[in-house]
Amino acid sequence: MITRYDAIILGAGAAGLMCGLVACQRGRRVLVVDHADQPGKKILISGGGRCNFTNLHTAPDRYLSANPHFARSALSRYTPHDFLAMVERHRIGWHEKTLGQLFCDGSARQIVAMLLDELDAGGGTLACGHAIRAVEHADGAFTVRTDALAATAPALVIATGGPSIPKMGATGFAYDLARRFGMKVVEPRPALVPLTLKGEDALFRELSGVATATVARAGKAEFREASLFTHRGLSGPAILQASSYWRHGDSIGIDFLPDRMTGWLVQAKRSAPGATMRSLLRDAMPERLATTLAERLAIDAPVGQLADARLRDAEARLADWRFHPDGTEGFAKAEVTVGGISTAELSSKTMEAKRVKNLYAIGEAVDVTGWLGGYNFQWAWASGWAAAQNI
Ligand code: FDA
Repeated sequence: MITRYDAIILGAGAAGLMCGLVACQRGRRVLVVDHADQPGKKILISGGGRCNFTNLHTAPDRYLSANPHFARSALSRYTPHDFLAMVERHRIGWHEKTLGQLFCDGSARQIVAMLLDELDAGGGTLACGHAIRAVEHADGAFTVRTDALAATAPALVIATGGPSIPKMGATGFAYDLARRFGMKVVEPRPALVPLTLKGEDALFRELSGVATATVARAGKAEFREASLFTHRGLSGPAILQASSYWRHGDSIGIDFLPDRMTGWLVQAKRSAPGATMRSLLRDAMPERLATTLAERLAIDAPVGQLADARLRDAEARLADWRFHPDGTEGFAKAEVTVGGISTAELSSKTMEAKRVKNLYAIGEAVDVTGWLGGYNFQWAWASGWAAAQNI
């Protein structure tokens, strides 16, 4: 028997649940289908279990996409304050951690429970643990078959996310389906991901576990946050952010002394000529890192004995230390995916496919990727909300 709905949503993650709950509260009969045994698995593990559910500084320039303007419409119509209003309606305690990032006081489970309550309140149907066997499109209707159900609807929403963290059930299903409908996919790459080091740079892996305040740069993008050395290379928020902009062959620049004024080293030569490079660095960073950088600069003599030009060179190097990553830790460790279903294929207002009437794509499946810090969930909520207005 085939059950009829107004819309079938593939994927019960952040975007699919939001789209489902808004659409059913607008009176639509909605089915949300997922192959995972429970909905919102990435929400549950997000933000260290506390879910960084939005960011107050949400703006289109905090997103990567082949079309930097694409996200503007959806983000402006469903804002962080709209999501926060729902969180408060459900009496979920929250706090701002840093840089506009909002987290639950308690647990990410509260966010999933809230979305499910809202879906339930609207009379939406959720079907988890259903591997999708077929998606057919004929005579203006989409039919979805799993081993246990068959459903048909005039509208279909692709909300199956991107391939980051496959062991959590993430797949490239959205891309395969979009391609079947003739839509282009921007090459997916792991993003918000640790970078790996080799060759000379690999010596820095000995600092595994050391973190320090930095500015990390990739191309024109720069992020002032902590960087962390790992046994494979580089991580920490500044590096994760920079990784989204990094491409094979590019270098990453790290400013190890973002709070020092230009000329500080020559000034130190005047005020503390007996100081060593290591002792001067130790004031601003962990000792092991100070030792390694001083060794790399090959400066052991007291700064008072060095020419100003040599000190200026050392200062410039410390302000933009170049690393040459040989890769990333891949989709297995990537928090998100850069790339995805091309925005050129979609209406930015409704998320509907231009080529196929009543087919929608939302969330991480689309070529819109946010910075670290709640931006990706805000995109999932906003794009899900935008599609729900139209179905
Ligand atoms: P999402 O991945 O949430 O949902 C897709 C759904 O589709 C899943 O339920 C999946 O099971 C299902 N699916 C996939 N393939 C399928 C198939 N073939 N058939 C049926 N169903 C299928 N973001 C943020 O803003 N703040 C944060 O704190 C974090 N923290 C975080 C931590 C970690 C460890 C990760 C991996 C990611 C984050 N993120 C984040 C990113 C955030 O989780 C992500 O951007 C959103 O979950 C994307 O929402 P979607 O609904 O698009 O995909």
